[in-house]
Amino acid sequence: MTTVQDLQSRIEANDQVIWSAAALVLALRTNTPPDLRDASLTLLHSLGIDVDLSAENDPMTVRQGLAVQAASAILQSGALLRGDRPWADQSEETMQAEGRLSARGAQLVKDVILSLLPGLDALLAQPGARMLDVGTGVGALAIAYAELFPALTVVGLDIMPGALKLAAQNVAESTVPHRVELRNQDVSDLTEVDTYGLAWIPAPFVSGSALREGLKRIREALIPGGWVIMGHAKIRANEGSAALSRLQTAVYGGTMLDDMRARDFLIEAGFTQTVSLPTPPGAPAITAGSR
Ligand SMILES: C[S@@+](CC[C@H](N)C(=O)[O-])C[C@H]1O[C@@H](n2cnc3c(N)ncnc32)[C@H](O)[C@@H]1O
Repeated sequence: MTTVQDLQSRIEANDQVIWSAAALVLALRTNTPPDLRDASLTLLHSLGIDVDLSAENDPMTVRQGLAVQAASAILQSGALLRGDRPWADQSEETMQAEGRLSARGAQLVKDVILSLLPGLDALLAQPGARMLDVGTGVGALAIAYAELFPALTVVGLDIMPGALKLAAQNVAESTVPHRVELRNQDVSDLTEVDTYGLAWIPAPFVSGSALREGLKRIREALIPGGWVIMGHAKIRANEGSAALSRLQTAVYGGTMLDDMRARDFLIEAGFTQTVSLPTPPGAPAITAGSR
């Protein structure tokens, strides 16, 4: 039985973890006022953490990426406790941070996934190549794909007007405004056929019914040999990580899938060659299937 005293000890321990996580964000960000930076560095130093990235290749980019990643859970859980639940009810800053974090998925596909899915390389490089970004949010992932694959036009779908408005601004300010198209459309209403070489869908953000119907529609919308890549919960060998993913998925209003259920969803929608792929720490698990 957990007592009030146990809870108080837990709350004190949480305070330390949460404030030192915030200190890490402040130390990594480049616009932190000097007094807060000094106090943050002192706290981190007392914990044995030294934020010196000078030995890194391209330290500024590494720094910005880590700052976004370190802030994401704090911003999201803060928004949740303020009473915001669905993803797009959150502040602009949170959505943009989450978008920037998701944008790393494009580099992962280029560096790792491309060589694991037969034929995808050619599909993304051919003239007129198209990619479908389901749940495009603020468009950061769509922009990153268009930047990394010069032949590609990316179509981003979302059902949240607030997110699409930010996406339109981000696309207009990007280097690829003519190769990213945005649409206010539910994936379960997709009607295109034989159009895309690749589709991305993030299961933790898409409800079970939209995911089931959406995967069938995506299959039709892919060209033969095209691939769907589905992001989902990464469940490691301990119960805590599954419980954490369950809470996050409940907050996002999406579908909780492990590797096996992800493959079942894809097979049910008619995909073949289904495969769960390795992803680095911090990235979601990924399961792919081919039309
Ligand atoms: C984590 S966000 C995507 C982040 C995005 N990659 C970015 O760069 O901002 C997931 C998005 O999926 C959208 N979504 C959820 N269900 C959807 C559906 N049925 N059809 C289309 N989009 C959906 C949500 O509105 C949300 O914006």
